[in-house]
Amino acid sequence: MQIPLCKPSIDSNELKIISRSLKSPWLTHGPFNIKFEKLFSNKFRIPYSLSMNSCTSALECAIKCQELKGEIIIPSFTWVSTANAILNSGCKPVFADIELNSRNIDPKSIVKNITKKTVAIIIVHFAGLPCDMNEIIKICKKYKLKLIEDSAETLGAKYKNKYTGSFGLGCFSFFPTKNITTTEGGMLTFQDKKLFDKAKKIIAHGIDKSLKKNFWHRESSLPGHNYRLPNHLAALGLSQLKKLDLFNKKRRKIAKIYDKELSKFNNFFILQKVSKNFSHSYQMYTVRVPKKYRTNFLDFMRRKNIEVSVHFDPPLHEQKYLKSYYKKKLPKTDILSKEIVTLPIFPDMKKKQVNYVISNIKKFISTLNL
Ligand SMILES: Cc1ncc(COP(=O)(O)O)c(C=O)c1O
Repeated sequence: MQIPLCKPSIDSNELKIISRSLKSPWLTHGPFNIKFEKLFSNKFRIPYSLSMNSCTSALECAIKCQELKGEIIIPSFTWVSTANAILNSGCKPVFADIELNSRNIDPKSIVKNITKKTVAIIIVHFAGLPCDMNEIIKICKKYKLKLIEDSAETLGAKYKNKYTGSFGLGCFSFFPTKNITTTEGGMLTFQDKKLFDKAKKIIAHGIDKSLKKNFWHRESSLPGHNYRLPNHLAALGLSQLKKLDLFNKKRRKIAKIYDKELSKFNNFFILQKVSKNFSHSYQMYTVRVPKKYRTNFLDFMRRKNIEVSVHFDPPLHEQKYLKSYYKKKLPKTDILSKEIVTLPIFPDMKKKQVNYVISNIKKFISTLNL
């Protein structure tokens, strides 16, 4: 049996939708973008949504539309694009530590890293689990910091009945491993119309529609980018979004089986803790395994054709090009990055595939002298 780490669920209807929209005379940002953005806003109760070509673009645009200049605090335990977006927007990343239970940024570590130059925090909702938003919002208010949510890995999860991405500026990814996909793609969400209008200019070369003198006149008012999501990919996104609840329901069902079976081996696995008031959308199912066994465990599972992986090692403060931004010690990130393992999870994963993963985990553990 061959088990991929993740697998997008694209159905024949979606293939038809894409092929139909490719026959349209207009192939870039178009009517499907508007529909996709509208449904996104309605579903997650966020006033304004702007589709774009990736979450990395959304992160950059979130910084640029607020004209942030200075230090931005992020967890070191994240994908490189969180830091890259900061550097490519002319700001400086400052790394905070995480909490081991949730694997999300530790509000206490955020406070320790605030300086006079701090302008914002980019939190990362890791693997599908929202951050501790109460504490984070308190910090933002107290220190007058902007909040950007890197919700690339979390779509459809809530903190206290409020969706991720609806607390600050929300950045989402539709990369093929995520909860829904447009192949490449992303969304940036806003509470504020002025920022939304500015971001619309940034993603399309800075063209300012208010300066239009006639139908062919195009004038830019800022140095924009091309961050647009093409119409046919927005068509795919729209259809995928309609299936998100079903996808997440299936992911949660698989996670429940893993939880039940793996918690029997609490001398080997430490599971991600989902506290009261938090819901999880399981873009990834991650476990901690003892550091000394991790490589052997990964190799064993791979030999059984089970595509396990690691997110994230090295963490950002160990990436060569980011080392100069590493100031304060990050002991929990150091522990987690050496112990974390990602197991396969995707909506169409069959019960027998889940059982195959679990039975091989059991086989591996039985070889150990625990
Ligand atoms: C936490 C995090 N941020 C940002 C991204 C970047 O998303 P995209 O590939 O859509 O730019 C990812 C994608 O893997 C991610 O996991």
